[in-house]
Amino acid sequence: MRPGYQKYIPFQPQKIENRTWPDQVITRAPIWCSVDLRDGNQALVDPMNLQEKLEYFHTLIDIGVKEIEIGFPSASETEYEICRELIEGGHIPDDVTIQVLVQAREHLIKKTFEAIQGAKNVILHFYNSTSTLQRKVVFHMDMDGITKIATDAADLIYEMSQPLIQSGMNLRYEYSPESFMGTEMDYAVDICQAVLEHLHATPDRKVILNLPTTVENCMPNQFADMLEYFIRKLPSRNCAVISLHPHNDRGTGVATAEMGLLAGAERVEATLFGNGERTGNVDMITLAMNMWTQGVDPKLDFSQINRIKEMYERTTKMPVGDRQPYAGKLVFTAFSGSHQDAINKGTQYMKESGSDFWEIPYLPIDPADVGREYEPIIRINSQSGKGGAAYIMEHNFGFDLPKAMHPEFGHIVQVETDRVGKEITPERINELFHQEYVDVKEPYKLLKHSFHETIDAEGHSHVAFQGTIQHTDTIFDVSGEGNGPIDAFFNAIKGEKMARFSFLDYSSHAITDGSDSQGVAYILLQDQRDGKKYWGVGLSHNINLAPLRAILAAINRAKRKSS
Ligand code: KIV
Ligand code: ZN
Repeated sequence: MRPGYQKYIPFQPQKIENRTWPDQVITRAPIWCSVDLRDGNQALVDPMNLQEKLEYFHTLIDIGVKEIEIGFPSASETEYEICRELIEGGHIPDDVTIQVLVQAREHLIKKTFEAIQGAKNVILHFYNSTSTLQRKVVFHMDMDGITKIATDAADLIYEMSQPLIQSGMNLRYEYSPESFMGTEMDYAVDICQAVLEHLHATPDRKVILNLPTTVENCMPNQFADMLEYFIRKLPSRNCAVISLHPHNDRGTGVATAEMGLLAGAERVEATLFGNGERTGNVDMITLAMNMWTQGVDPKLDFSQINRIKEMYERTTKMPVGDRQPYAGKLVFTAFSGSHQDAINKGTQYMKESGSDFWEIPYLPIDPADVGREYEPIIRINSQSGKGGAAYIMEHNFGFDLPKAMHPEFGHIVQVETDRVGKEITPERINELFHQEYVDVKEPYKLLKHSFHETIDAEGHSHVAFQGTIQHTDTIFDVSGEGNGPIDAFFNAIKGEKMARFSFLDYSSHAITDGSDSQGVAYILLQDQRDGKKYWGVGLSHNINLAPLRAILAAINRAKRKSS
């Protein structure tokens, strides 16, 4: 054997003139078929038991899937029993079609017909392998031999289905040329056309032609070329529903499905979270939500994605990765500072502009669309920037920090994340905020105070302040006057050793925590001796007291930093 990469045979692209699929866009949902309970289940370390399959089946129905491949009833007694329970237990709504898979082999087909007795809507799905490789190494047959397997099966299925159809069963057919992507396209057309003819397909009784990338072996654009070529060449195109069944070996199952839809497919077989053989089947959720983000209704309901994820992880025992599109734990989380900043601005823009559209950078969808509006979007670690900590303070604790304060507080938080070397919680951020700006009660403390306000005939306010302040062990009285409480207090303390501070900025707002509402004031002072600026924050149920506390907190911080 050749060494390394040289042992692989490169994919031979299908030649096609004037391809049209690149100019198409997806404008409507395909017919969805879930293959979770068959392809997904057969790929599990521990396949689902009856109860798990039933729960999964009902979840698929809640999501809105109308065609569900429930298994391979001729493959084992368990599979057969599950099919019977679904039918006899009345689990299948009238508008839902169950699909059963069977190889193109007589005894298995007969067993499958037994399994579906009594069902209302059924798709009988049969398949055989058609690829060059499978013909060569597995079946040792030429094209005619492989075609005969398919058409013999089609004849038997057609014959056995007539009594059921006459008795009222809505029975449809699906044929898969398994390993379609490794099949010569002209041969794929021939075998599918033969099957359509043997099943007496008409425009009114279409047969589903399911064209799987059983093992994904080419780029999605090359698959789309093959599909467009196949569709153009298929004589009875109007008697077929073209279905996709992408696997994900190259990690491009979603792109293959999307480009396949552009190339003319009408139906997609997929699984939740992309479970399935090897690297999985194409992920139905990603496909559907991708449509959603383009303004196309996917006709599936993923508004409770966490609930679906919980069911999936429990029944399949497969974890959903933290980066799984739309569903992963971290997909709506920004750690990076610049991302946090942009999200912050986007959120602000949405609020202020009243935009009808979702216009937030780094958040391709509104987490609320998948029921994830209560999860933290911004989390803080050493990669986070100045805006992130402020965002947490606002969204988790109701503190709307002045913009000019963000860099300083962001830095304080960053020093802490560098120190601990991991993510820090919102509670810890709140603690740091209080330690740094609010709970700075030394050396100056306001022990008691009173205001006296007079308002003259023109409505001008005049406030007199009197108070008692403690400075370490010394207690002294201060008084001052001004046109408002802050002015009066500031004038009162100017006479003391605090005269060196000038007043730069003030803002305040209410914060409500349950039924308790209090005011918060943010004050920025400047030390005139060296020009340094100090923020202080005061909290109080009394709107006049919060700014006084903030002023003293700023002065105390200055003292602390300069001592
Ligand atoms: O991947 C595949 O080819 C299949 C067929 C049975 C449709 O699962
Ligand atoms: Zn498959």
